[in-house]
Amino acid sequence: MGKEALTITDKRTGQSYEIPVTHGTIRATDLRQIKVSEDDFGLMSYDPASENTASCKSRITFIDGDKGILRYRGYPIEQLAEKGDYLEVAYLLLYGELPSKSQYKEWVYDITHHTIIHENIKKFMDGFRHDAHSMGMLISTVGALSTFYPEAKNIFDEKVREKQIHRLIAKMPTLAAFAYRHGRGLPYAYPDNDLSYTGNFLNMMFKMTEPKYKPNPVIERALDILFILHADHEQNCSANAVRAVGSSHVDPYSAVAAGIAALYGPLHGGANEAALRMLMEIGSKDKVPEFIKRVKSGEGRLMGFGHRIYKSYDPRAKIVKETADKVFEVTGLNPLLEIALEVERIALEDEYFIKRRLYPNVDFYTGLIYQSLGFPVDIFPVLFAIPRTSGWLAQWKEMLLDKETKIARPRQLYLGPDKRDYIPIQERD
Ligand code: CMC
Repeated sequence: MGKEALTITDKRTGQSYEIPVTHGTIRATDLRQIKVSEDDFGLMSYDPASENTASCKSRITFIDGDKGILRYRGYPIEQLAEKGDYLEVAYLLLYGELPSKSQYKEWVYDITHHTIIHENIKKFMDGFRHDAHSMGMLISTVGALSTFYPEAKNIFDEKVREKQIHRLIAKMPTLAAFAYRHGRGLPYAYPDNDLSYTGNFLNMMFKMTEPKYKPNPVIERALDILFILHADHEQNCSANAVRAVGSSHVDPYSAVAAGIAALYGPLHGGANEAALRMLMEIGSKDKVPEFIKRVKSGEGRLMGFGHRIYKSYDPRAKIVKETADKVFEVTGLNPLLEIALEVERIALEDEYFIKRRLYPNVDFYTGLIYQSLGFPVDIFPVLFAIPRTSGWLAQWKEMLLDKETKIARPRQLYLGPDKRDYIPIQERD
């Protein structure tokens, strides 16, 4: 074997093995030949949180966590956020290239013309309690879409697959806005095809009695930038959920519903809501040192801080901070900003956070923007789910079309009891 290999000597048997190295990686199944006896199962690797295990080959998103680099299909996130728009970026993620003018026109048309939801979904939403969390509503209604489009299970039919991609990207803002209006007891506002993707979302959220809703262009653009930043993030918890569930060949609505469920957790997309609630709990700038002290002593975490991959400043957080300044020029300063800046200042100078390389992540400042735009706190994770849908679908499609894909099925280390015999209850002490 050439230089691109690893020589492993098993001290238990004295045997040596050559394991090929490709793209700086060994195949875990190559370890199985390492056995202590003929009937030994073979060596496995143990990696409970997949911290050092590549679960797929991907060509979608690149992250260098040490350098704070994020690229979609090779394009730096900074350039996409400055010059692109969300639907263009969604196209890029899904099809690998930026659309031509005619491709873009067709794509925007297709998304715009799938925004309406079946009236029965509305009735279904009416059944939720008035205080139902928007993410719970989104998980269920996206899952329920599979019952409205039963053909979606033909996942290897390209035309069918594309149709569901259009539907999911198009209907997500509608479902989100309807969930919000249900909670407020407001009549549902229907999509307006004259508006942009984010402009229409704002329309469905905030339209009242005016005959035509006109989104503020600064706010519309700010939301579009936030959507670009949230569109994909390679093999995170929810993308991994979509891929794992999708690997069973279920329809995309069910797979994406699993992704939304994963995103809901406070360690993932629920962190934007948790971060804002934390800032409200701190209450004032002078209480920040005391709060940081509590975090350091193990009383909870600093929400919106830290990342599995980024060990330097999250590049998305930098852009969010700049976007916040533009939004606050329109909405006025969010009073919680002062507290957030103080948290960041103290944390970045504190040995605890420096040693663990904990920096603000994308969720730290987004909540301040969302709040200033008038979004209620419980819809914050939904504002993450809407744009992440394009990333989930890109990951789902890549997984389906990868010849190496098999149903996701990790191994375990069984450490439970050895075989023992059942004792009837009458004979148990
Ligand atoms: N506040 C205080 N301590 C922290 C934090 C935090 N936010 N994050 C990590 N730590 C500590 C942790 O206690 C541990 O300390 P020790 O070594 O003494 O035990 C060390 O840092 C390493 O933490 P970990 O849990 O092993 O790190 P992880 O890579 O498993 O977790 C994380 C990553 C994002 C789940 C975690 O940093 C966290 O819980 N952050 C707060 C929630 C949050 O903001 N999540 C949003 C992530 S970005 C958006 C997205 O992609 O979803």
